[in-house]
Amino acid sequence: MKTQISSLEYSHFPVMLSEVVQISSPENGGIFVDCTFGGGGYSKALLKFPKTKVIAIDRDPAVVAISKKFEKVYKDRFQFYQSKFSQIDKFLKKDIDVAIFDLGLSSIQLNNFKRGFSFKSKGEIDMNMGLSNFSAQDAVNNLSENQLKLIIKILGEEKEAYSIAKNIVRARSKKKITRVDELVKIIEKSKRKNFYSKIHPSTKTFQALRIYVNKEITELINGIVKATKLLKPGGKLLIVSFHSIEDKIIKFLFSNFSQNKSKPSRYFPEDNSENLILFEKYTNKVIRPSKKEIKKNNPSRSAKLRYAIRSKNEFNFPNNLIKKFSRYLDIEAIYV
Ligand SMILES: C[S@@+](CC[C@H](N)C(=O)[O-])C[C@H]1O[C@@H](n2cnc3c(N)ncnc32)[C@H](O)[C@@H]1O
Repeated sequence: MKTQISSLEYSHFPVMLSEVVQISSPENGGIFVDCTFGGGGYSKALLKFPKTKVIAIDRDPAVVAISKKFEKVYKDRFQFYQSKFSQIDKFLKKDIDVAIFDLGLSSIQLNNFKRGFSFKSKGEIDMNMGLSNFSAQDAVNNLSENQLKLIIKILGEEKEAYSIAKNIVRARSKKKITRVDELVKIIEKSKRKNFYSKIHPSTKTFQALRIYVNKEITELINGIVKATKLLKPGGKLLIVSFHSIEDKIIKFLFSNFSQNKSKPSRYFPEDNSENLILFEKYTNKVIRPSKKEIKKNNPSRSAKLRYAIRSKNEFNFPNNLIKKFSRYLDIEAIYV
């Protein structure tokens, strides 16, 4: 059967596609959950194997049209939910073979300048991936200087957060900040010139605002813990991440709740729940895109793929994961 292709569908280049498919081993079929459907690159590759069933999730309303085409072509082998992946347990009960998370933004989102994710945009500062109830514009114009500083410093890992927050507050006291290019100018003015830096001066502040608006850390922690609960023993959890906060969380979950878990630190008492082994032995190996892939698709350069295999042990909530990263969760809980 021939697939109907939309232009949107091909505007995102799936990162480490062959590695993801190989680890997922779809040859013998099973239930695969594509928690971040995007342009459908992973779903499509998995559906090429005739015995697979794919359940796809994405919060972005812009990809619903792509999912409709998949539903037409693959009929009962494909189901889509426009939802946040933290809600995965609302429509799936258990016995998943593979759950895949490909975090961050799709090119469909980044290249639509009206959505304000790219600092090349002259559109409104929005940055809502879908299903968020406020925008980056609300955050920039309503949060206190101290709240902005915290968000930019902790979620963006931006060393010059103090002067950026101060200048945002100064600029908005004269006129509401509405457009991306206005915000970019404020950030550029706030930062010392660094001729050696390979990234745009706005990269970290934009990352911080995007994470905050979409509550990405809260989503990640809830999404991967719930997916772990729904996996079959022997089922696989694959996660592609793009920045160090995400990677720290994934590494902590996989290495501290696996059969070879490291000893808890004396400053950090072990989780009270017994049997807190959720994964088989975790080798802690990060998979990176090949040089050839990076050359073809530059945004893949910062991608890291990690995966772990669900053990037979009963599920208990990994409370230490929440404790360890509560600082990020508290910042995302700041109310605009
Ligand atoms: C990098 S893209 C995925 C691309 C996809 N693997 C492909 O091959 O086309 C990430 C997608 O995840 C979605 N997403 C990010 N956070 C989400 C969340 N918490 N819940 C549901 N979808 C999310 C975004 O809307 C975006 O479409």
